[in-house]
Formats: sequence, structure tokens, C-alpha cells
Amino acid sequence: MPDNTLRARDELFWQTFADRYAVEPGPINLENGYFGRMSRTVVEEYQHNIELINRSNSVHVRQRFEQSESLQIRAQLAELISMPAETVALTRNATEGLQSLIRNYNLLKPGDQVLICDLEYDTVKGAMRWLAHHRGVELIEIEHAHPASFDSLLATYREAFERYPKLKLMALTHVTHRTGLVMPVKAIAAAAREHGIDVILDGAHALGQLEFNLDDLGIAFAGYNLHKWIGAPLTLGFIYIAPHRLADIDPDMGEMHFPLTDIRARTSYSTPNIPALRTLPLVLEEHHAMGGAAAKGARLNYLRNLWVSAVRDLPGIDVMTPDDPRLYCCITSLRFTRHDDQQLMVERLLNEYNLFTVMRSGAASGPCIRITPGLTTTAADIELLTRALTELR
Ligand SMILES: Cc1ncc(COP(=O)(O)O)c(C=O)c1O
Repeated sequence: MPDNTLRARDELFWQTFADRYAVEPGPINLENGYFGRMSRTVVEEYQHNIELINRSNSVHVRQRFEQSESLQIRAQLAELISMPAETVALTRNATEGLQSLIRNYNLLKPGDQVLICDLEYDTVKGAMRWLAHHRGVELIEIEHAHPASFDSLLATYREAFERYPKLKLMALTHVTHRTGLVMPVKAIAAAAREHGIDVILDGAHALGQLEFNLDDLGIAFAGYNLHKWIGAPLTLGFIYIAPHRLADIDPDMGEMHFPLTDIRARTSYSTPNIPALRTLPLVLEEHHAMGGAAAKGARLNYLRNLWVSAVRDLPGIDVMTPDDPRLYCCITSLRFTRHDDQQLMVERLLNEYNLFTVMRSGAASGPCIRITPGLTTTAADIELLTRALTELR
């Protein structure tokens, strides 16, 4: 496998790679953070699986899928995060998994405190607020300073841990969808541990573009989806629970299809998207064949750095993530500082330059425009973006 950094800038290679994806003519998509495209071969396999499962119905599902295929798929999924199969349970998306972890975490007593920050995903914020109503705990909401640094992020958490001694549980987002900031998960989780605080990690945007090891990060509870940077069909996700912490998450709403000692009892028992799951082995094969998260991440970061390095110092533009390589990935947001209405600027990027982006609000520092290149994005697309930002500011 060639050096990822060298290959990241090889436009010819990436053009050949991009040809594996069917792309609808239209605006240049710089909003690849919503979900990822499937390759043509994955689409074909998915279609084949839809037809197969539709034809064979429960005969195939009960005789083969439930007995063996689903177990193999689960084992392959666990391999993706270098964990044993027993630590992983399938869900339909990241939200379902994270909400189940939050709802069923059983170590909270009335009067305890739980923590979120401004950058968490809304469904995670909602689930933590739900805890406050239903478990009698107090929700503490903190805000991160902008611009952030490794030290400022860690210091903000340390301060909260000192100030709120009844904190027992916190949500942490590995890669925030608002600005693309990559949280120093290992350092934050270590500080939380010193105060006896458990962390539920939202890994939705990390899987497939960042390399990580959950043991090394010190994370016992995490939720993921497979439809962002892995390139799987929509409707697939999973949770991870470290085996020695399984008892701290209750079965989901009294779920009794699996024994208490089985992580699968922590998710709702329902009919999954079987054709999508049967497509997963090919998706993972393609992900690994191209060099996995290391290769994808290197290319995506290269594209991010192309535009960020060109506009970082321009008056009128505020880039929301720092250039500390520990703190950024391909998603990066910006703000036009001389324009009040960022949504209007999203529209101008589209109408005047054919560039499709999205506004994100909810960060304490205010609304911003999220730029997310994808695996079919070219250096020429980024050049156009750079020109547009330079002119529009
Ligand atoms: C940081 C983050 N967490 C969670 C989610 C939810 O993922 P899903 O749509 O798979 O439930 C998203 C989706 O965009 C996200 O960006």
C-alpha cells in the first residue's frame, strides 16, 4: 500500500477511485457529512440482496441469516474496531444506539449530575435532557471557547469536573458535526475517570475517517453508524460496551430475547434491514482494500487543508477548527465575519458558484457553514471553493 500522504494528493488515483461511484449531475457536493455514497458495486450487491430476501423471505432469514450470516456480519463489524464480537450489538443508526446507552445507564441516582457541551449532536443532547426529567438528575451544559485548543478543551472539562462534584456521566462527541472539531477523547476520558465520571462516546463521524482504539482511548460505551464514512447502505449502526461494564447498562425496556449477559439485550429487538446487513461484508472489504480510515482520512484531510490553508488568514473569514492535527478531520466549518446571515451565504455559494454546503447552528460561538469534502471531491472543486470564499467574504 503506497504512503497515504503521498497518495492523498494523487488526483489521477482519486479520479479513478471516484469513477466507482455514480454521481447525479448538479451542484458540487461539499456536504458529504450527512451520509456517504455507496460505490456502484455496493449498490449492485444491495439490490441483489433486496431481491434475494424478497424472494426467499423468512425461509432464508430464519434458516441462514439468523443462524449464521448475522453472526459473521457482527464479527466482521467488531473487527473493524478491533474488538471481540461480544462487545458489539447492531442498531439502525448512531442515535438509536446512543439513546439506548444513555437511557439504560443504571448508575444514576436522583441528585446526581450529567454533562453535555454545546457541540454535542441534538439527539444526544435530547437524551441527556430526558435523563434530567426522568431520573431526577441535574443536567450541566458547558460551552467551549472559540478558537479552541487541545489545552482549552481539556481545561473546560477539568473546570466542570471540579465545579460539579456530583457529575457521574457525560456525553462526549469524537468529531462534532457542527464544526468538525476532533475532541481529545483520551485526555478528556482520563480526566473524567479521575473524578469517577463515565463517558458515553458519540463516534458517528469518527468511524471510517479516523483511526482509533477504544481501549487506548479509555472508552467503555460508544455508539456508531456505518452510513457516513464507511459507505454502507443507510440504516446501519452499532453500539460498543466494554465487557466489564455490561452490567451498568440495563436491557432496553425489559428486553428478554437475549440473556442479561448478552450485549444484544441492550438494543431494541426488531426486524433489521436484512438486505443492508447482508451488503456489509462487501462494504467492509472495499473499505479495507482501499486502506481503511488511514487512507480515507489522509485524502479527506488533504482536501480540507487545501481550502483552509488558502483562507485561514483572510480578513472576513473565521475558520472554526484549529490546525493542530490532533483536533481536525475533513469536516471544517467557517463563518463570514462581515456578513450576519450565514444561511444567505450558503445560498450565495450555491447560486453563484454551484457549491452545495450547509449551515450549522447550536455552537455557543454562533452559526457557521460546514464544508465536508467526500471521496469523490476533487482538488479542482476545492479550488473553486477557495475562490468563492475569497470573493464572497
Ligand atoms: C456527531 C453525530 N452524532 C450522531 C449522529 C446521528 O447519527 P444517525 O443519523 O446515524 O443516528 C450524527 C448524524 O449526523 C452526528 O453527526
